[in-house]
Amino acid sequence: MSMVDIINKKRLGHELSDQDLEEAFLGYYKGEIPDYQMSSLLMAICLKGMTDEEVFSLTDIFIKSGDQLDLSKVEGVTVDKHSTGGVGDKTTLIIASIAASLGVKVPKMSGRGLGHTGGTIDKLESIPGFRISLTEEEFIHQLNTVGCAITSQTAHLAPLDKKIYALRDVTGTVESIPLIASSIMSKKIASGAEKIVLDVKVGNGALLKNQEEAIEISRLMKKIGERYNREVDTMITYMDIPLGTCIGNALEILEVMKILSNEENNYLVALSKALAAKMVQLGLGITIEEASAQVEESVKSGKAYQKFLEMVEAQGGNINGLRVSEYTKDIISTKSGHIIGMDAYKFGKLSLDLGGGRKTKEDKIDSGVGIILKKKIGDDVEVGDVLCTLYTKEEGYEAEEDITNYYTIQ
Ligand code: URA
Repeated sequence: MSMVDIINKKRLGHELSDQDLEEAFLGYYKGEIPDYQMSSLLMAICLKGMTDEEVFSLTDIFIKSGDQLDLSKVEGVTVDKHSTGGVGDKTTLIIASIAASLGVKVPKMSGRGLGHTGGTIDKLESIPGFRISLTEEEFIHQLNTVGCAITSQTAHLAPLDKKIYALRDVTGTVESIPLIASSIMSKKIASGAEKIVLDVKVGNGALLKNQEEAIEISRLMKKIGERYNREVDTMITYMDIPLGTCIGNALEILEVMKILSNEENNYLVALSKALAAKMVQLGLGITIEEASAQVEESVKSGKAYQKFLEMVEAQGGNINGLRVSEYTKDIISTKSGHIIGMDAYKFGKLSLDLGGGRKTKEDKIDSGVGIILKKKIGDDVEVGDVLCTLYTKEEGYEAEEDITNYYTIQ
């Protein structure tokens, strides 16, 4: 069938066969199908959805486009974690350090920012020298010595997903349950961990906007896991306000270090500990209560922080070289009252506009830009208080809209 026929078939809401999906997606991978036709098919999928069979088939095509990592040489139980993406979401860096400090092996392949959401790899690249690409031998060696390793999706693992992911990012085709589920699960399966914890984010700042979508994607990802004999556990967590107090690559690394140094106590900390406890429960085969107690102890004693530094050093990073922009601009409240809402999506977009993410496939990120939220939901504010501070590329940044409106103050 021609690509135009395949696009039309999906546009009319029909199920694509394995062969249709292979022709379209493998054809795109080989360079036989141009970006504009694949974008059109992706948009039709966004609008018409996919059956479970189509999702299984697409996941399989993504996996088979590359190699599958063999982690049998890693000593211990391997537990991977993935988040469906949010604003200010730096949980991976926190929980990989905690879980590894407790003896769980955490092989983590992470992605770059997508749409208004940030990516772990972009955050890690703000650490000078940090190697986001490791060879398979280096990856396995680091898992056996340090216990955790975070690398970018290598060119060999689900390379077709990587190509599609970059196209989706710039064609308005990110927010699709079947596309997100197949993208995430193909990488999780190909990267070889025995057990997987999925943080399914829901809310205005997440890719999934409501509870029904979150439940549906959890069901789908568990089903994909079952087909490949992987134990998958999911947690649905809220993303209506940005996670933590920093948005932006280098700023978020600094926040991770504060949390691991036991200097913060907020929702992000609680969420990270809950996710880490799930990984420890699966990895060590203990109860959730025992796992939670071990997680608390690891953070309190500084063991988790040491593990983070060990991982950064093992991957060549110079944590002392982390740089945030020297140009800042305070956003001042024009109202007094109580903060009852914050628009996570708008803050994510703002970070992108400041230069912390990509608007085209070729854009270069500025690691030093971002936002520190000085006031958050539940806080009282007075006229003249600083709501947030922007870290900008240049002096004299003028926002396109009134950022005070990202807060709802009553
Ligand atoms: N994260 C992924 O890896 N893929 C998606 O499609 C969305 C979030």
